[in-house]
Amino acid sequence: SGNDPRPPLQLLIAAPRGFCAGVDRAIEIVERALQKYGAPVYVRHEIVHNRYVVDSLKAKGAIFVEELDEVPNDAPVVFSAHGVPKSVPAEAERRKLLYVDATCPLVSKVHRQAERQIEKGQHILFIGHEGHPEVIGTMGQVPDGQITLVETVEDVATLPFTQEDDLSFLTQTTLSVDDTREIVEALQAKYPQIVAPKAEDICYATSNRQAAVKEIASGCDLVLVIGAPNSSNSLRLVEVAQRMGTDARLIQRASEIEPKWLEGVGTLGLTAGASAPEKLVREVVDRLSDWRVVTEEVITTTEEKMVFKLPRQLTE
Ligand code: F3S
Repeated sequence: SGNDPRPPLQLLIAAPRGFCAGVDRAIEIVERALQKYGAPVYVRHEIVHNRYVVDSLKAKGAIFVEELDEVPNDAPVVFSAHGVPKSVPAEAERRKLLYVDATCPLVSKVHRQAERQIEKGQHILFIGHEGHPEVIGTMGQVPDGQITLVETVEDVATLPFTQEDDLSFLTQTTLSVDDTREIVEALQAKYPQIVAPKAEDICYATSNRQAAVKEIASGCDLVLVIGAPNSSNSLRLVEVAQRMGTDARLIQRASEIEPKWLEGVGTLGLTAGASAPEKLVREVVDRLSDWRVVTEEVITTTEEKMVFKLPRQLTE
């Protein structure tokens, strides 16, 4: 309006963004476990990499731990969406713990492929980021020494295998689509015999969110990605925007936005990683509206309809 001192801000909101089907399912598993078994329900590792989600579940009676030895014998425990090495359910069974596995079905699919490739006598080259729980989980599906982590194109050059070796590759589900393509090309150039996974392991949610941020980034002066610093798919969204030549920042909450970031920004892009709730997107829009007259536009690159079934334990 004529007297509004706030300058205008055009906001381009990427779609799809935020929660994927695997995150939805994992959160619902913890909520249903709390209803069925009563608090406390233990959760091994952050159920999804988002502090807001973790704190909300804590308030309902979930207790987050990093390892099973922190779980008492008589309490139920949920394994996070990222998946766990085989040693974890094995230990839970040895201790006769009541456990519910919230591993995303798309991560479990990679786990089963890893087992099959080892059965076929192949050595697996696994593309992923060292230390991420999904990587620890997938590498822990097969015996030590039968899977080798590859993080970069440079890593490919140092691999000790020959063109005579039976090799296959798999990837983490939340990687950069573009980086992964380069690593796979380097692997195929060095090892033409390498067997590819049946279908791409990078999940639909990861690739859709990257495509959506790509669509808006070039028209923006700044892109904000809502996500946690340990959320692989969120970090990749920041990189995708930056590679389009646009300034991009990862934020966990609206309160982190500094007014000076908006200096000279007429068009701002907004997206959220797969573990970030939509509520945090609204919080950012509200915060921006403190300083600017915001015009929102949602740019949709694809519609998502994926829903995953809950474990039978919790639906009976
Ligand atoms: Fe699953 Fe992909 Fe989400 S692997 S948890 S659907 S980011």
